[in-house]
Amino acid sequence: MMNLIPPPEIYETQAIPDKSAMLNVNDYLHSKQNVINNTLKNIFSEPPHGTSNRLIQAMYYSLLAGGKRIRPILCLASLEALGVTANPTILKFASSLELIHTYSLIHDDLPAMDNDTLRRGKPTCHVQFDEATAILAGDALLTHAFGLLAEIGVGEPEYAQACMRIIHLISEASGYEGMVMGQMHDLANEGKIVSLEALEETHRLKTGALIRAAVVSGGILGHADQNQMGALKKYADHIGLAFQVMDDLLNIEGDPDLLGKAVGSDLERKKCTYPSLLGIERSKTYAYELVNNALHALAQFDTKADPLREIALYIIHRNK
Ligand code: IPE
Ligand code: IPE
Ligand code: MG
Ligand code: MG
Repeated sequence: MMNLIPPPEIYETQAIPDKSAMLNVNDYLHSKQNVINNTLKNIFSEPPHGTSNRLIQAMYYSLLAGGKRIRPILCLASLEALGVTANPTILKFASSLELIHTYSLIHDDLPAMDNDTLRRGKPTCHVQFDEATAILAGDALLTHAFGLLAEIGVGEPEYAQACMRIIHLISEASGYEGMVMGQMHDLANEGKIVSLEALEETHRLKTGALIRAAVVSGGILGHADQNQMGALKKYADHIGLAFQVMDDLLNIEGDPDLLGKAVGSDLERKKCTYPSLLGIERSKTYAYELVNNALHALAQFDTKADPLREIALYIIHRNK
């Protein structure tokens, strides 16, 4: 397990009034994971036993295989910071992020990309089914995410405006201006030593962009004003990058049983990562700094933003 105690300045410089009064992040994440999982099960009901529909089986298999649900939870936590409680429509908005994220993982694991065989503690989609089915299951999850969002916009006029903004936001974050471009950079960087600036850009695109969209979509649904939105974006940019730096570190120091995926694979594939450029200790320090900056970005928010604060700290303490 990783030994990740953030340096004291994270606590000293961030005004967290009464640590004992704060929520337990694991309980918080667990309860939100349940809510998101139930929403996902309503969106895709379990394929009947013995069904011959391989595509739906594969989609369901990867989507409901577990996962931290951190992107939908960030959307909900961002709303909470603005004093808004989730309702079934908001849960659908949040869940659409998980459909896109799961698609990205299925494709990321393919032999043409990272060629991984374990994900979320189970054989990867292409191992469990086959490559063609995995590609199509990813395609279908991505497409359905936008279908789900459009359906809200058409069926619930009070959300129509927010819906258009969120469709625009998520399509930018997940497409060629965001995650897909980041994946392209990640593959192109294999076997190379790129500059820190180039690596940061890769990480921002491949992972940061969707995390930012998750936080910002909460801001849109919660009617954040310009200042609040600016702060949420700053927070998201910092945690998004920290999340991928930690993913790089966990690929070296993590426990595969807890992670539910292989460790050591970045080195095997000669991936350019933060630890490969900076070493382990400096990468950890960088992740701490990013989270510290994320906490500072939330200074204008009251205790309703504590879930966002705790999620930022969770990102550097996580072991899965
Ligand atoms: C893994 O994402 C891929 C990255 C973008 C770093 P997560 O760590 O959120 O994976 P799950 O959803 O919990 O499986
Ligand atoms: C995954 O990045 C990023 C996306 C899926 C967009 P990685 O390839 O570093 O993530 P893991 O370690 O396989 O989860
Ligand atoms: Mg990858
Ligand atoms: Mg990968």
